[in-house]
Amino acid sequence: MSDILVTGADGMLGRAVVRALSGRHAVVGVDIAAFDIRDAAATLDAVRRASPHVIVNCAAYTDVDGAESERELAFEVNADGPGNVALAARDVGALIIHISTDYVFDGESRSPYTEDDTPNPLNVYGESKLAGERAVADSGAEYLTLRTAWLYGHDSPNFVETMLRLAEGGERLRVVDDQEGMPTSAADLATIIADLQSTGVRGVINATNSGSCTWFSFARAILDLSDLSHVHIEPVRTAEFTRPAKRPRRSVLSLARLNESLGWEPRSWQEALADYLTERLTG
Ligand SMILES: NC(=O)c1ccc[n+]([C@@H]2O[C@H](COP(=O)([O-])OP(=O)(O)OC[C@H]3O[C@@H](n4cnc5c(N)ncnc54)[C@H](OP(=O)(O)O)[C@@H]3O)[C@@H](O)[C@H]2O)c1
Repeated sequence: MSDILVTGADGMLGRAVVRALSGRHAVVGVDIAAFDIRDAAATLDAVRRASPHVIVNCAAYTDVDGAESERELAFEVNADGPGNVALAARDVGALIIHISTDYVFDGESRSPYTEDDTPNPLNVYGESKLAGERAVADSGAEYLTLRTAWLYGHDSPNFVETMLRLAEGGERLRVVDDQEGMPTSAADLATIIADLQSTGVRGVINATNSGSCTWFSFARAILDLSDLSHVHIEPVRTAEFTRPAKRPRRSVLSLARLNESLGWEPRSWQEALADYLTERLTG
């Protein structure tokens, strides 16, 4: 018996969510070793046994480039999986909080994307996540789907750690300066989830830290806040990197619905990053 069941609990966001909720609720975190969300019967069985009132689904296939050659697996995990979790949530009368992505959009809009804008994913990962959103919405369960972006969190490979490792290793840094997005701390998103789960807010909501930047500016800030401002970074264009998956050029999300739902505004990505870097040093 648990209040809240977190799937994907060994992942970057899952761990932060378990941490954020644990003081206030009976939280059970599970990952693929406990049950595979692709398996509808196993998912239903595990959810019935846990009997939670909220399920936070952080389980996902998150290899954006890998999805281009593993389309079937990406859809099984990101589309069928959330559908199975949502049907199980409906069965036990639980709310499902599902995590989606800014990559459901094509990034061609000049203004920030609202939740009502029409998705148009550019890559297989984004297509599979959009199919997952739809499976959750069609399940008949009470749901809240949070679209987040550019996540980083402790003890997981992520962009911040990659930049620090390369800079400290004396490698030449070349970072794209023509893709804009919203860097988001997994810990901050977990706090948002912890707050939203007790409200009556339902449907789709964008959920990130405030503000946007390019990968290049993000990298610059990471180094400047880490006493590595002397390290040179070269801004480059996306066209100079050949990668399997296309990325949106400008996936900036409107946070108006989030701010209204929370009654407070998530802090800026710069403040969240500064805290992350401090915590990283102090353990
Ligand atoms: N990371 C980002 O920048 C970003 C941006 C926007 C949205 N998101 C979304 O945010 C959510 C959390 O992402 P994250 O970065 O925390 O991902 P993550 O670190 O890759 O964690 C995902 C977890 O799900 C597990 N998992 C994979 N397949 C599973 C299955 N079939 N059944 C049960 N568990 C399974 C993974 O296990 P294995 O490690 O063993 O595969 C992993 O522990 C995802 O929905 C993702 O799409 C992420």
